[in-house]
Amino acid sequence: MVMQSTRPSVKTAANSAKRMVLSPNFGLDQRVANFYAGPGALPLPVLKRIHKEFFNYDGTGMSVMEISHRAPEIVAIIEDGAERIKRLMNLGDDFEVVFLQGGGSMQFLMAPMNFSSPGDRIDYIDTGYWAEKAIKAAKGLGRDLEIVASSADRQHTYVPNLADVQLRDGAKYVHLCSNNTVVGTQFQKFPKFAVPAIVDMSSDFMSKQVDVSNLSCIYAHAQKNAGLSGVTAVMIRKELLASITEELPELLDYRTHVERKSNYHTPPCFSIYVTWQILKWIEEDMGGLAQLEKVNQEKSDLLYGFIDDSSFYNCPVELESRSHLNVVFSLPTPELEQEIVVAAKAAGIIGIAGHRTMTGCRVSLYNGVPLEAVQKLVEFLDKFAKQNR
Ligand SMILES: Cc1ncc(COP(=O)(O)O)c(C=O)c1O
Repeated sequence: MVMQSTRPSVKTAANSAKRMVLSPNFGLDQRVANFYAGPGALPLPVLKRIHKEFFNYDGTGMSVMEISHRAPEIVAIIEDGAERIKRLMNLGDDFEVVFLQGGGSMQFLMAPMNFSSPGDRIDYIDTGYWAEKAIKAAKGLGRDLEIVASSADRQHTYVPNLADVQLRDGAKYVHLCSNNTVVGTQFQKFPKFAVPAIVDMSSDFMSKQVDVSNLSCIYAHAQKNAGLSGVTAVMIRKELLASITEELPELLDYRTHVERKSNYHTPPCFSIYVTWQILKWIEEDMGGLAQLEKVNQEKSDLLYGFIDDSSFYNCPVELESRSHLNVVFSLPTPELEQEIVVAAKAAGIIGIAGHRTMTGCRVSLYNGVPLEAVQKLVEFLDKFAKQNR
């Protein structure tokens, strides 16, 4: 896999897309198999629930989009959403949960601003594109930042062994990205570090069970596994919150949002509502993160199994480091890598082009992607390989 490829123009892609007409009971037979990297597919039962209560939320006579952020209905959604995250992730009473704006990228700035001061040592792990964005943002704040482990030596096709990472004396925290959306790698476990660990979980939040006992702050935007863009969940250990000494602008201070229960200024109410619906679906319909993890595992096993058995497709990521959410693979030629995206679209399969900085393909298997969509993809990949050998 190398950097930068030419993609078909938007116009060409739009022209080749089939228009779909949906009935209210739409399913995969009437919708595309959506593998976009985020925003991406949402669970169909959640879409149906939202559709059902769209014009009249909970008997209020209003759409949830029309309700004031100070009204009890929205306050209740925010509070219940935070409680569900605590329960699902086993955060207990040790963590505060807030819903913020500005995406994952805002946390690249807020985390260093809150948990360190100018000149402080902060240690970062470089696992590719998004980890590097976080590094750049923190460096810009005048911190003494060091990259203490990196996978750059093998084009980020693996994740470093966290147990071997040497942190610097006096570092305020270590930062890492748990799932690397662009290059398709993922950390499966987090060891106990000597300093607080801050994790960008934007692309694997709410996709599996996580042992949080060694983590101090987790942040994740919602638009991959847990809802819409516009909202970012931040989970912060109370003792880390208590250690903040910086004088910060109120809006950028985590303590403001904890004290004001994610309602300091107008929150993205509809995005939070969708996240809340997804959290309810995970808890009540799927039976929790352990159950959901099994489904997600089945999806990635199916796709990796097919790719590994094929001599046409190749996944460059080392076995132990593979992401269950973002599967990257290459084809024999750059021309075929472009052709397959167009052919997939014609077959009702969307979003398999690699990140714009990469060649090759990327398939995202977020919570909203049903197993049947992966089965359909595998059948398509098989047929495409046979036709283009
Ligand atoms: C792991 C990760 N972190 C951060 C971001 C940036 O998030 P946002 O676009 O919400 O700022 C992304 C975007 O896809 C991501 O995949």
